[in-house]
Amino acid sequence: MNNEDLTKPELEDEQEEIIENTLRPQSLREYIGQPKVKESMKIYIEAAKKRKEPLDHCLFYGPPGLGKTTISCIIANEMNSKIKITSGPAIEKPGDLAAILTSLNEFDVLFIDEIHRLSKTVEEILYPALEDFALDITIGKGSEAKSIRLKLPKFTLIGATTKAGSLTTPLRDRFGIVQRLDLYSTEDLMKIIKRSSKILKIKIDDLSSMEIAKRSRGTPRIANRLLKRIRDFAIVLSDGKIDLEITKKTLEQLEIDEIGLDETDRRLLKSMIIQYGGRAVGIEALAASLGEEIDTIEDVYEPYLLQIGFIARTPRGRIALSPAYEHLGLNHK
Ligand SMILES: Nc1ncnc2c1ncn2[C@@H]1O[C@H](COP(=O)(O)OP(=O)(O)O)[C@@H](O)[C@H]1O
Ligand SMILES: [Mg+2]
Repeated sequence: MNNEDLTKPELEDEQEEIIENTLRPQSLREYIGQPKVKESMKIYIEAAKKRKEPLDHCLFYGPPGLGKTTISCIIANEMNSKIKITSGPAIEKPGDLAAILTSLNEFDVLFIDEIHRLSKTVEEILYPALEDFALDITIGKGSEAKSIRLKLPKFTLIGATTKAGSLTTPLRDRFGIVQRLDLYSTEDLMKIIKRSSKILKIKIDDLSSMEIAKRSRGTPRIANRLLKRIRDFAIVLSDGKIDLEITKKTLEQLEIDEIGLDETDRRLLKSMIIQYGGRAVGIEALAASLGEEIDTIEDVYEPYLLQIGFIARTPRGRIALSPAYEHLGLNHK
């Protein structure tokens, strides 16, 4: 992983996935932050259990690395259900989804990550499955074709997406529970960093956890990643214990500034302020100037910059706000 990628909240590789799984909380009680989501999920889960029904279908949305996969696995745990994990792009044909659906057992959770990337034909199989627990299949061709309906076990679909807006209305309407995950506060990130340190047997003081928390862009995945990277520095440069000096030194080396911005964030802001003269700029133009994908800018960079009030979305495009000028030491016209 190069430095640019460190603050990208997407999963980097299999190795990272393995470590990530060891850091995943297993119960709602262990899940830090997101109080609104936790409270309502607790009630929905309890109610479903009392009714002896599977939980309603759930949709979780929000930027990458905020805990969508984690909470989905937790929900299956709390329901004492088995979870089957797949993703929108992995389900290529309607038949693939039909095979998954028919392999489910009563009360199972089917988790579809990046659910906005399901193809139209696959999605259509899902509608009757979600609404009536039924699978409509066509046998034969042309005038001989017959449609038959298979009964499916009662299951719970949990969908996760970074782009709730890209979901079709018929799909979105079939989720009884829709929850947005927010960026985490510094306090919550600090708790996550302390928890991860304990699991990974890393010695770290409070000032350092706080420093990492402040520079993690509200994102647990980034917090955990920075923690591991700083641990490596601590092992090489001292006795493996993380203190504020090592923390700051590492983050400086990684070109992550005091508020967690990396080189791409700064390029993005400078492009808005200098190249486009502080005028509203469209996302396409911005993506082209930076050589980044529109999706990456929208999902990875913008949420945090919006949250800290560095940029705003207007009908005519994005604009940089005063705090961004100040942070970069540029004059606001
Ligand atoms: N609320 C939380 N409490 C503790 N750790 C969390 C929490 N949310 C996420 N994490 C950690 O962050 C990492 C990324 O979470 P994940 O669920 O994979 O994010 P997403 O699916 O939204 O991209 C996981 O390793 C998990 O340990
Ligand atoms: Mg995920």
